[in-house]
Amino acid sequence: MEANSKQYDNSVLPNITEFLKKYAWIFQDYEDYNGFFRDNLWCRFPDEWRLYLKTLPLKQILSLPKSWKESIALMPESLQNYIFQCTTLSLSKVRDPNLSLTTYSHYKSLSRGMSEKKQHEVDSIFTLVSNFLKAKRKNEDSNDNLKELACIDVGSGEGYLSSVLAFSNLQLKCIGIDDQDSHIDGANQRMKNILKEIRKEENSNMEDLKIENRLHFVKKFLDEKVTPSEMLSFIPKDFILESNEILLIGLHTCGSLANTMLDLFLKSEKIKYFIGIGCCYHKGKDHFPASEMVKKLDFRLPSCALSLACESIGEWNAMAFDEQNYTITRYFYRSLAEVLLREMYPEYKGLFTLRKIRKHKCNSFYEYFEEALKRLKSKNQSMAPCKAFSKNELEEKYLHYSQHFNELAAFYIIQLFIAPVIETLIVRDRVVYLQELNIPEVLAIPIFEEELSPRNLCIVASKYHKQ
Ligand SMILES: C[S@@+](CC[C@H](N)C(=O)[O-])C[C@H]1O[C@@H](n2cnc3c(N)ncnc32)[C@H](O)[C@@H]1O
Repeated sequence: MEANSKQYDNSVLPNITEFLKKYAWIFQDYEDYNGFFRDNLWCRFPDEWRLYLKTLPLKQILSLPKSWKESIALMPESLQNYIFQCTTLSLSKVRDPNLSLTTYSHYKSLSRGMSEKKQHEVDSIFTLVSNFLKAKRKNEDSNDNLKELACIDVGSGEGYLSSVLAFSNLQLKCIGIDDQDSHIDGANQRMKNILKEIRKEENSNMEDLKIENRLHFVKKFLDEKVTPSEMLSFIPKDFILESNEILLIGLHTCGSLANTMLDLFLKSEKIKYFIGIGCCYHKGKDHFPASEMVKKLDFRLPSCALSLACESIGEWNAMAFDEQNYTITRYFYRSLAEVLLREMYPEYKGLFTLRKIRKHKCNSFYEYFEEALKRLKSKNQSMAPCKAFSKNELEEKYLHYSQHFNELAAFYIIQLFIAPVIETLIVRDRVVYLQELNIPEVLAIPIFEEELSPRNLCIVASKYHKQ
């Protein structure tokens, strides 16, 4: 796999941070995601953006991330520049269409329970690891120096990836580490089922013994200070041999766990290879920037920007209009509920759980608002309302604010454009961090179909030079 060549030009990093500084007002209120009416966000747009965006019907606004090229000539120049720079400063998230996936062999239970998304992710990483092993074995054969690879799957969840790496034809020794009891229990149960199937098919107890020693799950929380020797001490003795080299893998390591992995890779003699795909950039300890180069640019990403980086244009574009409209309707309900709750409760300081109101409570704003009130009351029993809204009054408020529905949709879409620039900065900062510490081979590649799995930028690194 080859990287998109523009990622190697680190001189573009100051352009990215300057751009994000210039447009920070677009993402500053992303965090609670309820502030469109409360903070009058529409007024932050330059007049000419507002004038233009107000002329567009809803369907056209929602399809801008897909079809902006068709209407760019009609946009004011400043908006053209914004959109153009959002696209040129972002790493491509389009998976190489010529890459065919290698399917792993036989056991049905290996893919049991996987969603289509998980199956695609596991197939893609399996392909990457298979190709990489082929190259490694070829190289070592010629050096007469075959070193067996063991794999540590960081944040292994239900163990889908680890079990495929261990029980498919790759036959890697694999350790999965996760801090959740339920995930470790689930992973162990899956492993039992897979072994049962292997026993039935192979009908050989001798094989079983070897196979059983191929995969192990450990329940541990890896904090950001964990050292490689501490991590290795969690692993059963003799599982990883002196002669083994280690591949550290993380499929969707949340927030700072991705940076913990980078440090484990850098500090360990034994860990020679790294495959990591991050997610939930806003979770965990503050971890941005990691590299000296980005630190020198004197730019911090506030947590609202880290949250916005998790949005995906590819996923948005794959949605049907109704689904997009539903997303915007929820955003509208949240923003309107926020204003009304503030009118009712003088002490009200925001209700983050508005984001989590379920679909069956979103059939109308009235229903949604009832649910929001219930949540507020259960969380803040001592809070007393200074007024109440009748059903008619709620209807009037709803009609009044509905006139601004398209403005809210346009704000959402303009925010969406900048999300991949922020994600690019986070991923490139991690790449530069490895480069600065003399890792000879580092790539960032879009490894999954973005529509299926939007957090798809994978950092692949090796401590050996390519032959
Ligand atoms: C997004 S899930 C991905 C799970 C799995 N890799 C997959 O793709 O199916 C992230 C996993 O990392 C685990 N995790 C998060 N932070 C962790 C930490 N600091 N130490 C150990 N596990 C952690 C969570 O429990 C969760 O199972």
